[in-house]
Amino acid sequence: MITNTELEYKGNLYPNHIVEFKQDNDKLYFTTENGVILQVTILRGSVLRFRYATNHVFEPDFSYAIDEEASLGYSILEVTENETEYLVKTARLQLLVDKMSLRTQISDLDGTIINEDEAGFHWEENYEYGGNTVKMSKMTPTGESYYGMGDKSTHSNLKGKRVENWVTDSYAYGKDQDPLYKAIPFYIGLNRGRAYGIFFDNSFKTHFDFAYEKRTVTSFWADGGAMDYYFFYGPDMSTVVSAYSNLTGTPELPPLWALGFHQSKWSYYPESNVKEIANQFREHNIPCDAIYLDIDYMDGFRCFTWDKNHFPDPKRMISELEQDGFKTVVMIDPGIKIDRDYWVYQEALENDYFCKRGDGPLMHGKVWPGECNFPDFTNPEVREWWAELYKEFISDIGVHAVWNDMNEPAVMEVPSKTAPLDTRHDYDGYPCTHRKAHNVYGMQMVRATYEGVKKYVYPKRPFVITRAAFAGTQRYSSTWTGDNVATWEHLWIANVQVQRMCMSGYSFVGSDIGGFAEQPNGELFARWIQLGVFHPFCRVHSSGDHGDQEPWSFGSDITDIVRKFVEIRYQLLPYLYTMFYKYSKDHIPMLKPLVYYDQEDTQTHFRTDEFIFGNQILVCPIQEPNAQGRRMYFPKGKWYDFWTQECLNGGKERWVTAELDMIPIYVKAGAVIPKYPVQQYVGQVKLKELVLETYFTVGVETSEVYEDAQDGYDYKKGRYSLRNFKLTGKEKSLTIQQFKDGSFVTGYEKFRFNIYGLPFKIGKVQVDNEEVNLKTVRSNGDNSMLIDKNFTLLHITSK
Ligand code: GLC
Repeated sequence: MITNTELEYKGNLYPNHIVEFKQDNDKLYFTTENGVILQVTILRGSVLRFRYATNHVFEPDFSYAIDEEASLGYSILEVTENETEYLVKTARLQLLVDKMSLRTQISDLDGTIINEDEAGFHWEENYEYGGNTVKMSKMTPTGESYYGMGDKSTHSNLKGKRVENWVTDSYAYGKDQDPLYKAIPFYIGLNRGRAYGIFFDNSFKTHFDFAYEKRTVTSFWADGGAMDYYFFYGPDMSTVVSAYSNLTGTPELPPLWALGFHQSKWSYYPESNVKEIANQFREHNIPCDAIYLDIDYMDGFRCFTWDKNHFPDPKRMISELEQDGFKTVVMIDPGIKIDRDYWVYQEALENDYFCKRGDGPLMHGKVWPGECNFPDFTNPEVREWWAELYKEFISDIGVHAVWNDMNEPAVMEVPSKTAPLDTRHDYDGYPCTHRKAHNVYGMQMVRATYEGVKKYVYPKRPFVITRAAFAGTQRYSSTWTGDNVATWEHLWIANVQVQRMCMSGYSFVGSDIGGFAEQPNGELFARWIQLGVFHPFCRVHSSGDHGDQEPWSFGSDITDIVRKFVEIRYQLLPYLYTMFYKYSKDHIPMLKPLVYYDQEDTQTHFRTDEFIFGNQILVCPIQEPNAQGRRMYFPKGKWYDFWTQECLNGGKERWVTAELDMIPIYVKAGAVIPKYPVQQYVGQVKLKELVLETYFTVGVETSEVYEDAQDGYDYKKGRYSLRNFKLTGKEKSLTIQQFKDGSFVTGYEKFRFNIYGLPFKIGKVQVDNEEVNLKTVRSNGDNSMLIDKNFTLLHITSK
């Protein structure tokens, strides 16, 4: 039971006994004598939706979070009852609904309780605004841990914490500061090896208490709207995260260049400065694919305009940068300057596209351009208009991608930092105030941006980045963790936030490498790059008023370290792209915290630092100054040192060395890791071969490599190449089988296998059952060989 909500406490109300039960296909309705209706929808055998009405009236069934393409369907649904409860059975779960109290209990088919109501659903009537404060309290068994919840800058295990969701402009935020820029009301519970998830689909300010107020209770509640939540059962955490991710969606594949290294600053201008930065990258041989233009490219911070003094011919500049391998990404904010001579303002005003206050006047507030009005992106007509505004930018000028910022929306010089709560929104035909629309405002802005960019970059793929996000925003846009600070603590925060976002269905994420506010020293910058190249989105960005933050700004030693790590990222591009493919198609998070990787191992439940990059690379950043090494935990299995190829046993903590030019990176034994050559930008080099770094193991391990044209939509017509390598290692033999799917023909003809840890000397090599002459396939040493890319069976044996 939650009593201390912010509103004046009017008393909790509870459902009483059930007087009616009805079933309508996949929906079950339990109605209580005092007018509460619980609707349970069976979405899948292990996914249930719980939706409550009070006074017999449900809130409209509309959500921005849910992906229309979510795959649903169940096989078994049986409902029985006894004197005290209803029993609902699916292929994976049993649900009990108590007849006296409407409380629910979920167990697996063996009868082990997975999750049960404490007070269950209860509510307070909200006299000020109407509607209810809706609440749910669940039991917290001893030993239960909690994960997820978006961008919280706090320990990955949320047990004992209370957090809230209200997207907030949080310049120079700190550890444990809450809320930040994202609202993702989804958590994962883990107890005795079993994981489940709860997604509270409510866009009002939501609150989560993970056994903070009471050791035995976990609660979540919202300032309005309905108690409407989804329950996902594992028992594996991976099943839970994928089910949530399937429900709220994943992005399509980005163009491959979007996974390259990006450089940004507030702001690079004039044109000569932008060009100079681009040239420096090429001179220093540091790969880079994109350069960002922050607000100063605009004319007086008016969106969709150019400062013609600083950028006299943006079209020419962008095309010259493009010839040198750079994509140009520009910022667009939501605030439209109040200026009667400004066409975007005029159009929005004439068409009534701006948000209005409760009693009718336009909502206005101060942002970079001064006083602004704010388009109501929750109105589909406004989104269409906004999408069209990108036409000139993209089709005529050649801008490649768009960065949406300040879309909480951030409003300056007001204590709330955002729009007043009485501001009205269309909410796609369910009109409401900002209390309900606030958390989705930025999401709807970037959705409109995505639609526009997608339309005008076609036949290429769109790339968009947003600061504010609600659950489901990952379908439209990448994101970053906002205005962090150049401190060692923030390096820790970036690591936790990015892993947490990945667990919360949002993998395409990174931090401002080096810190946005203040300036890092060379050591911190190097350590941050070493982490950042293993984040799905990899961009250096800084506020600029604290000095330079380009890779060469900290002396040649640091420049060399940056180059070395950015080169590793570029070599691993096919691996990273395959991670993205698995995320996009199978809803698998791109980074996996250790607890996700091995939830059975309780050692992992409170670890924050180490993570798995993709499926097979274990990374552990160095997060302290002057470190020569650190202790790190190796999850179960065997791990090869990325640098020395030494093989170690997992399941324990170890001291690992890490001079400034390296961090601990380990590869899972049995993995086949694809590598491209270093290129200065994606597409610079024509691929002659694909390197497959192969790490021997006794046993079986499978690896995948996804490739396609790196941009465009041909892959949707089957023109992709998905290779599955099944490695089987024995004492005296190594077998690799290749299974290939898709009709894309890669430009290279050969694989270069570099085999590590082979416990025997190669005597014989057979490709598709035919012996090959060792001399002709060997290159660069005994355990390296060039093999035709179409092989299906590679069999290597000892003498
Ligand atoms: C906000 C953004 C930051 C940007 C700045 C100026 O603070 O978070 O990335 O540089 O605005 O546009």
